[in-house]
Amino acid sequence: MMQQTEHSFSYNIFLIGFMGSGKSTISDYLSEHYAMEKIEMDQTIVQNEGMSISEIFDAHGEEYFRNLETNLLIQLQNKKNVVISCGGGTPMRENNVRQMKKNGKVVLLMASPETIYERVKDSHDRPLLEGNKNTAFISDLMEQRRPKYEAAADLTIQTDGKECAAICEELIQKLMELEKRL
Ligand code: S3P
Repeated sequence: MMQQTEHSFSYNIFLIGFMGSGKSTISDYLSEHYAMEKIEMDQTIVQNEGMSISEIFDAHGEEYFRNLETNLLIQLQNKKNVVISCGGGTPMRENNVRQMKKNGKVVLLMASPETIYERVKDSHDRPLLEGNKNTAFISDLMEQRRPKYEAAADLTIQTDGKECAAICEELIQKLMELEKRL
């Protein structure tokens, strides 16, 4: 294990990727082992609104939820050394990606539709997947989103079959390489 706990990032790390790509698990691990503050965008929005994601979608629609995401990203700009677990759709708006890049590096977590399906199949707090929990739907939506995910990413990590610790080590190592190149 690399000794990175002393390292403090002068920017934020934004984890992006499809629902169930492991953003929350990785941000938990990074905050615990690398002494970083952690923010879950979905969770923060739920707390601020006093409603679940499904309730927000039902009551106000997706556009309203997307605006909440944009506002939250703007608020995060005066922080650093924070790992931010984004919602799966956050980078679909170009403005959101612009806001992230103002003070952050964007890390894309990839997983196969089969892995995603296994991770999301028992949960009911993802309105876009309700009634659509199958690998064909997941794969289609992932392909639709792929260009925007890839365009947003400063670096990409394939997570299939890898342990959380190994993913985090790879992530930190790649970020340090990126810093050296700047
Ligand atoms: C969404 C992903 C969800 C949540 C909302 C919409 C999406 O977050 O923000 O249900 O559009 O992909 P997770 O990726 O954390 O599940």
